[in-house]
Amino acid sequence: MENDLHAAKSPSSSAIWAALLCVACAFIAACGSPPDANIPAARTDECDDPPRERETLQAFAQACNAATNIDFPDFDCDQGTEVPETHLSGTYPFQFCDRPNVLNHVCDPGSRFQVVKQTNDAIVVGHCRKKNSGDHRYGDIAAIQYNKVNGNTCFYQALGVLPNNVTAPIKGNGSGQFPWMDPVDTANIQCAKCHDNGPMVRSPYLAQLNTEATNRLPGTKSGSGPWDQRFSWNKTLPYAFVGKDFQQWKVYSVSVTGTGSLCTSCHRIGISSLGAAFFTNDGSALAFGPEATAVSQAQKNPHSADSPIWMTPGQITHSPANETEAHAMQACAKAIVDKQNDPSKPNPPAGCSFVQYGRGNTCRAGPIRGVINGATQSTPTSSRSDTTVDAGACASGDCPIGFCYWRTLHGPFWQTTPFNIPIGDAAYRGSFLRIFADAGAWKVRAFSDPTGGPPNAPPGGTFECTSFKEIAKVPDANNCGSGLASIVDKDGSVLSDSVKVGTSVSVYPLTGYIGNVAQMFAFRERGDQLLASETGGTVTLSQRHDANPPPPHKPGPLTGETWTSGCAVWSPDYIVKDVYTDTDVLLVPSAQAQNARCYITGVSGGWSSTRNGAKEQPYAEIYSGAGKEIRMRVSPTTPQDAKDRVGAFASCIKLN
Ligand code: HEC
Ligand code: HEC
Repeated sequence: MENDLHAAKSPSSSAIWAALLCVACAFIAACGSPPDANIPAARTDECDDPPRERETLQAFAQACNAATNIDFPDFDCDQGTEVPETHLSGTYPFQFCDRPNVLNHVCDPGSRFQVVKQTNDAIVVGHCRKKNSGDHRYGDIAAIQYNKVNGNTCFYQALGVLPNNVTAPIKGNGSGQFPWMDPVDTANIQCAKCHDNGPMVRSPYLAQLNTEATNRLPGTKSGSGPWDQRFSWNKTLPYAFVGKDFQQWKVYSVSVTGTGSLCTSCHRIGISSLGAAFFTNDGSALAFGPEATAVSQAQKNPHSADSPIWMTPGQITHSPANETEAHAMQACAKAIVDKQNDPSKPNPPAGCSFVQYGRGNTCRAGPIRGVINGATQSTPTSSRSDTTVDAGACASGDCPIGFCYWRTLHGPFWQTTPFNIPIGDAAYRGSFLRIFADAGAWKVRAFSDPTGGPPNAPPGGTFECTSFKEIAKVPDANNCGSGLASIVDKDGSVLSDSVKVGTSVSVYPLTGYIGNVAQMFAFRERGDQLLASETGGTVTLSQRHDANPPPPHKPGPLTGETWTSGCAVWSPDYIVKDVYTDTDVLLVPSAQAQNARCYITGVSGGWSSTRNGAKEQPYAEIYSGAGKEIRMRVSPTTPQDAKDRVGAFASCIKLN
C-alpha cells in the first residue's frame, strides 16, 4: 500500500466499493496504540460517569440471568470441593502451605470451590472462603456468573459469618434469604481491579482443582471441553459488566514489545479503571504478574515440585528471566496508568501500549487514539524524520475492525523535489502524513526531509480508529470494509480538479496529506483547498490551488487521500457534515457529544508555511470545549489578511 503513493488518479470507486463489502476486506483491523506516539491511546470518554442506581439485588440478578443466559440457582457451599492446603504448617492465619490463596495471602483450609451451574456457553462459579469459621459457616462467599459468547459477567459477594446454604440472588436478600450484598456494595469492592485480564483469576490455589470432574475452575485444564482452554483462556474472551452499578468499570489489555511480551503469549495481562480513574496497584499487570514470578510468595512453601511457582506453566522454581518479563510488563502498565491519571507524567516507553477490551455492557468504547509527532506541534529538525506507528499491533487479539481518521492535524506539508523522485528516495525533499493499511492492520506514517534547507518541523497529529462494532446501526461489523482513493497533481499545474470517489460511501475522512496540499489562504474559502466532500450522494475528492502561492512556496506536486469506509446496509447518522472553519467552530453540542465521532475531511490555506523559524506550525484541532461540547479550531488565524492562515473541514457521525 505504501507504493501506491504515486499512482495516478484513482478510478471512481464503484469498483472499489463492490470490493469493500466483501468479507475479504474485513481484514482491516486496528487496536492498541502506536508505540512511539506521544500519547499511546485514548482514555474512553463514554460511560465515565453513568448514573449509579442502587439497583436491588433482585433486579440485578434478573438482568444477569438474562444477559448471561444462565439462571443462578441456590447452592450449598458444603457441596463444593475442598481446596487442598497440602504441607500445611503453623497456625491460621500464619500458616504455610503449597498453594496459599492470593486474595488474602493465607492458607485457608476448609474453603470450598464449586461450579454451581454450567452450559456450553455460560457458567456460575461459587467460592466459599472458610476464614477459620465453624462448621457449616464461611467468612467470604463470592460468585461469578459469566457467558463466554457475549462476555456478560456478574459479580456477587457476601461477607461476615455466613451459612453454607446460599439462596439464588434472584430471591433477593430480605429476611429468610442469603445475605448477598446489594449490588452497589459489591461494586464498591471493585472486583474488576483484580479480575482484570478476564473474568476469572487462575491462581494455583484454585487451578490445582483442574482434575476435578465438575468443580474445576474454567481455563485450568487443557482439553476440548467447553471450559478447558487452559492455554487460550483470558486471551480473547469477551468481558462486559452487567448491572447499573457496574457500568463504569473498564478493563484494558497491555502489550509490550520485547521483554515482557512473553507474558501475553497465552493470556492477556490487564489493567483497569473506574470511569477515567485508573487503578494503580492491583491486578494482573501491576500485582499478580510480579507475584507469580517472584522468588517467594506470601505464606507459600518454598518453590518445589510439590509447590511449584505460579508462572510460567511447567516452571517449578524461580526463573529470573520470567521475573524480568513480569517486571517489564508491570513497568509498562505503571507508566500507562500514571500517564492516564496525570497527563503531565512522562509518556510510556516505545512499544508499551494498551487497548480497552471490556466495559459496562451498556457502554460503548471510546475510540482508539494515538498521537504521532505531537498533536498540534512538533520540534523542527534539519534532517530526515520518518516515523511509522501501528494503530494496532493486535498482539492481544482484542483488535476491532474499524476505520481511522485524523482528529488533530499539523503541518507543514510541502515538497520541493519533482514528482518523479519517489517519497522514500534519498533525494526526496518534502513532507507528508498519511494513514495506510499494511498486512491487515492500520498504520500511520509521518515524514519530513528538509536536508540542505533550513530546519523544518515534521507533520503529525492525533489519529483515531473507531470500531464498526461500536456503531449501533451497523448490522454486521464483519460486513464492512475500507478503500483508498487519491487525487494527484504531479507538478502543481492543475489548478482545480476533482475525483469521484463513490456513491455509496459512508464515511470519507481526509487521511493522506502529501506534498503541497494547500499553500495559500484567502477569505470565503476561496484559497487553496484539499477536500473530501459529499453532494447528492456522491463523494468527491477535490483540490484547488493558486498559481502564485506566497514566497518561498511554488506550485508543486501534491497528493490527497481519503480512506472511505462503509458497511453493508449502513448509512451513518451525520450530526454535521463538511463544516468549515478558519477560526473556531462548534461541531456537536454537549448533549450530543457522547457517542459522536468527529474527523477532519479537508484543509485550506497555508499548510506549507510555518512561523517563528518553523517553531509554529499550522494546525487544525477537534477538541472538547469547556462545556464538553465538541469544537474545531485552527491556527494561525491572524492577521486577517495573512496568506499563511489556515482553515479546515470536519464531519461528525453518531454511533447510536
Ligand atoms: C484484591 C484483588 C481482588 C478483588 C478486589 C476481588 N478478587 Fe476475586 N479473586 C482474587 C484472586 C487473587 C482470586 C484467585 C483465588 C485466590 O487465590 O484467592 C479470586 C478468585 C475469585 C473467585 C473464584 C473464581 C476465580 O476467579 O478464581 C470468585 C468467585 C471471586 N474471586 C469473586 C470476586 C468478587 C465477586 C469480587 C468483588 C466483590 C472479587 N472477587 C474481588 C482477587 C480479587
Ligand atoms: C505458556 C503459556 C503462559 C505463559 C507464557 C504465561 N502464562 Fe500466565 N498463565 C498461564 C496459565 C495456563 C494460567 C492459569 C494457571 C495455570 O493453569 O497454570 C496463567 C495465569 C496467569 C495469571 C492469573 C490471571 C489469569 O489469567 O488467570 C497471571 C497474573 C499470569 N498468568 C501472569 C503471567 C506472567 C507475568 C507471565 C510472564 C512471565 C505469564 N503469565 C506467562 C499460561 C501462561
